[in-house]
Amino acid sequence: MKKTIISAAIVAIINACAPAPAGNTVTSPDGSLKVTVDAPDGVLCYNVIKDNDTIISNSRLGFELMGGNILGIHTEVLSIDRSKVDEDWETVWGEQRIINDNHNGAVYHTAWLDVEVRVFDDGFGFRYIFPENLGNIAIRDELTEFRFTRDDHQAWWLPEDVPYYESYANHTAFKDITCAHTPLTIEGSDGRFYSIHEAAVLDFAKMNLVPESGGALKATLVPWSDGTAVYVGETRVSPWRTVIVSDRTGGLIESRLMLNLNEPCKIEDTSWIRPGKYIGIWWILHKFLYTWAYEPENPEGHGATTERTMRYIDFAADNNIQGVLVEGWNLGWNGDWTKNLFSFTEAYPDYDFDAIMKYAASKGVQMIIHNETAANIDNYFAQIDSAYAMYQRYGMHYVKTGNVNLLIDGKEAHDGQYGVNRLHEIVEKAAQYQICIDEHEPCIPSGVCRTWPNLMTGEAIRGQEHDAWEVDGGNKPEHQTVAPFIRGLAGPMDYTFGTFDFSNPANPQCRTRTTIAKQLAEYVVIYSPLQMANDDPAAYEGVKAFDFIRDVPTDWEQTRVIDAVIGDYIITARQERGGSDWFLGAITDENARELSVPLSFLPKGKWLAQIYSDAADASYETNPTAVDYTEKEVSAKDVLDLKLATSGGTAIRFIKK
Ligand code: NOJ
Ligand code: CA
Repeated sequence: MKKTIISAAIVAIINACAPAPAGNTVTSPDGSLKVTVDAPDGVLCYNVIKDNDTIISNSRLGFELMGGNILGIHTEVLSIDRSKVDEDWETVWGEQRIINDNHNGAVYHTAWLDVEVRVFDDGFGFRYIFPENLGNIAIRDELTEFRFTRDDHQAWWLPEDVPYYESYANHTAFKDITCAHTPLTIEGSDGRFYSIHEAAVLDFAKMNLVPESGGALKATLVPWSDGTAVYVGETRVSPWRTVIVSDRTGGLIESRLMLNLNEPCKIEDTSWIRPGKYIGIWWILHKFLYTWAYEPENPEGHGATTERTMRYIDFAADNNIQGVLVEGWNLGWNGDWTKNLFSFTEAYPDYDFDAIMKYAASKGVQMIIHNETAANIDNYFAQIDSAYAMYQRYGMHYVKTGNVNLLIDGKEAHDGQYGVNRLHEIVEKAAQYQICIDEHEPCIPSGVCRTWPNLMTGEAIRGQEHDAWEVDGGNKPEHQTVAPFIRGLAGPMDYTFGTFDFSNPANPQCRTRTTIAKQLAEYVVIYSPLQMANDDPAAYEGVKAFDFIRDVPTDWEQTRVIDAVIGDYIITARQERGGSDWFLGAITDENARELSVPLSFLPKGKWLAQIYSDAADASYETNPTAVDYTEKEVSAKDVLDLKLATSGGTAIRFIKK
């Protein structure tokens, strides 16, 4: 009964929304984007205009509380506090070293809810502020809408019902969106590109999007098991709801809107937070060549042995690889490990933890210590101080966490308020012990890594592990040309490429469906400050193409997307941070493709281009390993013609002559 009354009220409210007067408008610094918040007929709404074109109209703002009260109706804007910022800040690591935060802002005060808006040249964000006089509240539903004026847009989006965001993106008409994760990326029928996401999801639930009448999308929050969406207590702000607006596909990736809407770094000494590359006892496990568990009756089958780990450490030390990940070193993997209580300090008998840590330290290699929690965060916190203190004693700064299990602590979603808080607690705890986190099965990121840069990378992607065992035969070739525009807009992805050996004896129907040249190009196209070279070191020995992995950095001065069509191809160029080299990656989907690349991004002068490309007879299906290496002198005036095989790529390093 109550539901009907509320929906009737909502319909009435939508009709009541009308364009708001200019006095309530915040305009971007370049004047092209305008966001207006007002409450015509008492209903809190916003409108967005880009270049005199209304792109989002009459979209509701507010919340429904448990008990039925609604914040955002029978209200009016009482006052507006305006602000203006234009300042540069430096990232600890990232796709761009110096970021300009240039926006105009406003806080709109109403009786029970404030709305803060920031408008940049490349998009806008708004968040809710819950005034202290409201006290503690329980939210049932968020009423925020994104009512685009055109309903013939196309969208790329991740379906909400696949665990850990490990799915392909759907590409549908706007009206065919069901329940979607953000980032949700729109190819506009107006020629523009938009992406809806969030910034600074802390002490709140993640936002998903559901369709509404008239082509609108509405926010919906991932609830607690008791049906409440969010308990608002000490934290009086919601995350930012963000929309990037760009005339170019690449503008979505070059936008720094999400980072600008997170708080500055809270870690004083960041000298221990270092980007880098890693190899690991990992791919041989996913290919079922060895096991995570040590079984006394088959000790040879165990992957994480002292001997193998030291071999990996040697290879890393010799090849400009900074880290070695080892999975299956600790007690807890036997039997159904998703139900076990893992130990984070005790190793299997064939893994000499002390000797390995000392050996790695002596070689200047960091161990990336794997902590699979099986989503039992209570068990993790029972050990976290002793484990992290033990790792820190050896000078080790990296932990890869995993949270495999549909519910955190057996009760709540990873991306509900409880999950968000528990997973974030790990990051703050890790910072106390100077530990960087690579977070698998996380809540999708939202730029919190600006504030806590020890949160280095994470999964939330259908990554390369699916190429080892997935029933559909491995990730389809289009996937990597989409990922940078959906999940990639949320932050670093631990995708884990680097496959050179395409055999898969245990699962012959399944393998990495790219060429080697595409694997190389992915180091430039798919961003993470920690990048894995996933294959067994034996697969790299004596192979010229490995030079590119050895040389490619993972931290950048600046980034340019030269050209892209989502789902077809993408060409990205990045300048090394702390160096003058430029790197370029171009990748394609299942179609072979010729691409022209103007080198106008290169500074003046002559450059040596080291080019790794698909050989003439390369193809991902029949000949993935055929790579050509050529060198060429080039300058900014040149245009390079690239030939990409089916699911192929080109990777180039440009060295200043
Ligand atoms: C899933 C993670 O994504 C993967 O990288 C890891 O190897 C397994 N869980 C085991 O923890
Ligand atoms: Ca995973």
